[in-house]
Amino acid sequence: NVLYARPHSNEPPIVPYWVPFVGSAVTMGIDPIKFYRENQKKYGDYYTFILLGRRMVTCLGTEGNNFVFNAKIADVNAEDAYRSLTVPVFGRGVVYDVENAILMEQKKFVKSGLSVENLRAYVPMIEMETKNYIARWNMKSAVENIYHVTSQLIIMTASRCLLGEEVRSKLDESFAQIFHDLDGGFQPINFLFENLPIPSNKLRDQAHVKMHNFFLEIMKARRESNIKDRHDIMQYLTTECKYKDGRKLSDEESANIMIAMLMAGQHTSSTTSAWALFFLAENPELFEQLRQEQIKVLGSLDAPLTFDAIKKLTLHDNVVRETLRLRSPLLCIMRKVVRDLPIPNTNYVIPKGSYIQGVPTISSRSDEYFEQAEKFNPHRWEIFDKQNNKEHDDDFVDYGFGALNMSKARSPFLPFGAGRHRCIGEPFAYLQIKTILATIVRTFKFELPDNKLPECDFTTMVVRPKDPFIRYVRVDY
Ligand code: HEM
Repeated sequence: NVLYARPHSNEPPIVPYWVPFVGSAVTMGIDPIKFYRENQKKYGDYYTFILLGRRMVTCLGTEGNNFVFNAKIADVNAEDAYRSLTVPVFGRGVVYDVENAILMEQKKFVKSGLSVENLRAYVPMIEMETKNYIARWNMKSAVENIYHVTSQLIIMTASRCLLGEEVRSKLDESFAQIFHDLDGGFQPINFLFENLPIPSNKLRDQAHVKMHNFFLEIMKARRESNIKDRHDIMQYLTTECKYKDGRKLSDEESANIMIAMLMAGQHTSSTTSAWALFFLAENPELFEQLRQEQIKVLGSLDAPLTFDAIKKLTLHDNVVRETLRLRSPLLCIMRKVVRDLPIPNTNYVIPKGSYIQGVPTISSRSDEYFEQAEKFNPHRWEIFDKQNNKEHDDDFVDYGFGALNMSKARSPFLPFGAGRHRCIGEPFAYLQIKTILATIVRTFKFELPDNKLPECDFTTMVVRPKDPFIRYVRVDY
């Protein structure tokens, strides 16, 4: 017998389910995209489903995106939705362990640290790390686990640029294990239950202490050595940052902000880079177009990559954007509803205690907003940019690249979110992924071993490619 939870008055329709408490967890877990789309057809843009005892209200379409991303803090909060997952990993005093106003200040610190001057310094570092890494591909052609490759490249480049050379230099030894154990605590089950007594959580807690202390030691050593010319965020956080009330950001907070940045960027950027290479392999004509773009901008494929060149590599930019449109790493954005919340232009009222969920992937993969939406076509953004005259978000520094022109919340394309919780890592993510791609396509193209794209793995924190094997082929140009 199909069960129906008793709706509260005016609650959006509830998706029927078989097992109490579990609700739609299984159908939703197997193929969430199908789940969201099918229920959207049946119930419209707003519906409730039960997920392990929680009432989740899915909000779709551009209005639904706006409703979630621009919801007021008096009505909803992100802390209650994300705390059990993130606080044990990031630590105390930062992000979702503090009130929203403090998070806003902490995000401003990082945003200011990601200055154009610093990003400029990162390009040669990312190029060098990538070149060194791919130097091991010494065959004419071979099959590689590309998710493994991009994860390595992202952690090496992120730690080198953001965390500093001391962290990067320990990546082959102690730091890698600490990262691995901490990362083990970053799994969906921890969204739902606080401090589950499972072995991975024990390792997570130990790893947090080790990483935190490791960062504190580096800060101390830096103060003693007094070297000033550094572009990493550790340097910025530990020397420049003061809250509005005049209090200096403490080393403990800086250490935990760095952990949060590392975790926020690691899987999101690794999976985006891996999917980008899969889409290129599916559309091999793009390799030559990317190489030609580099020749046009830089004169040759041997010229070192620079920040100004990266800015001008529009097709590279559009490859990343298009990848994010089709494989947005974060499937759903959650908030907990703290008082009964009416949905504008409907008769629905979401009862206090429910969660609202934005799923911008559904709009960014919908024919309603993008022609032949499921097709990978980076060139579609050239037309889009012309029509929209590259209208950038006023609140955001214009670095000259990225998806910033669609970052208003009433948009079908929001891979970095919008509103007060919007990602501050976007410029770095674009810079990092574009520089890695630009370096790789100079020497290699890729092929799909089975002539088809891998399926999506929805069981992990970000949408990853299942069996992520790809064939690299050295190009002699
Ligand atoms: C927030 C996506 C890379 C740091 C977000 C949000 C999204 C997102 C969707 C909004 C979450 C919400 O509203 O609940 C991505 C994607 C990335 C990426 C797709 C890469 C392709 C990064 C990087 C960093 C970072 C590299 C750090 C350098 C943050 C921070 C927030 C955030 C601090 C703010 C959280 C909040 O205010 O609640 N990101 N991100 N992200 N991201 Fe990213």
